[in-house]
Amino acid sequence: MATREPVTVIGLGAMGSAMAGAFLAAGHPTTVWNRTPSRADALVARGATLAASPAEALAAAGVTVLSLVDYQAMYDILGTTDPAALDGRVLVNLSSDSPERLREAARWAAGHGAELLTGGIMVPPPGIGQPGAYTFYSGQKAALEAHRATLEVLSRVDHIGTDPGLAMLYYQAMLHIFWSTLTSYFHAAALLGTAGTGPAALRPYVDGMLADLASEGPMGFLGIVTREIEEGVYPGGENNLHMQAVGAEHIVHAFRDAGIDTGTATALRRLFAAADAAGHGADGLTSVIEVIKKPV
Ligand SMILES: NC(=O)c1ccc[n+]([C@@H]2O[C@H](COP(=O)([O-])OP(=O)(O)OC[C@H]3O[C@@H](n4cnc5c(N)ncnc54)[C@H](OP(=O)(O)O)[C@@H]3O)[C@@H](O)[C@H]2O)c1
Repeated sequence: MATREPVTVIGLGAMGSAMAGAFLAAGHPTTVWNRTPSRADALVARGATLAASPAEALAAAGVTVLSLVDYQAMYDILGTTDPAALDGRVLVNLSSDSPERLREAARWAAGHGAELLTGGIMVPPPGIGQPGAYTFYSGQKAALEAHRATLEVLSRVDHIGTDPGLAMLYYQAMLHIFWSTLTSYFHAAALLGTAGTGPAALRPYVDGMLADLASEGPMGFLGIVTREIEEGVYPGGENNLHMQAVGAEHIVHAFRDAGIDTGTATALRRLFAAADAAGHGADGLTSVIEVIKKPV
């Protein structure tokens, strides 16, 4: 156990606490720091060391994992420490922010002699250290490889490139699919609810649709649209976009008539209509990507 790499965790919200707990369970000497120190109590009871200051936390390990609400919180914590405390450290920030903020942060860290690895962690706290958990990492590969075994305690380590912004680009791409898919389900549940039906009646159909989308069968649209985007060709012979733009209008009417929120339905209608107006009416649905890439 004593041969495990010491690690520091800064930020003990739901996620940081789960991470520090996973390091402790794997036998890593674990130092923690949080703005609200009482959040460390349970971890200290399990063997973690509570640092008296961020500088002391950084000094306790060669690698520091940060899990904070955003990147500003990192500056709030580390921006006021003695700059010498950062020199030679590897910071692994697994907080959410925009890709551009990550790039800025990598420059800020380098200016203090530290290496910043950025990461987008793709599971909720109970998934930390569990099979299937993975994290998109970006930044210098050598620094990541030096600490790979430690970071693998949290999840699979997927290095996606040296541009420090990439971790959030991938993370936000995935989170957008996650949130918009589930929000569509909430709208569907609300629509059925206006007719006195619970979502359980719809659930088997939704399960089938989601499985079909990812399949290689005739309804395997994820594969179909991926190929179309890669090739830039959007055949619409069997289901043209104009027909679907008219259908999207009907969904707005259905939601409005039912008295439920029309926000996402209106956004879809706007995108489809814009692609139709741009001359893609006879093409397929995938042609919408053209107005997503170049908004009119
Ligand atoms: N929870 C999830 O399911 C999940 C999944 C994937 C990624 N993430 C990402 O992981 C990060 C942490 O999420 P979480 O669920 O742990 O959030 P959380 O429970 O709200 O914890 C937020 C953490 O940020 C600290 N913090 C906020 N503002 C601060 C400031 N100005 N100065 C110092 N510390 C500050 C908080 O300190 P205090 O305790 O003092 O308030 C706390 O440690 C986020 O970026 C989130 O997007 C979360």
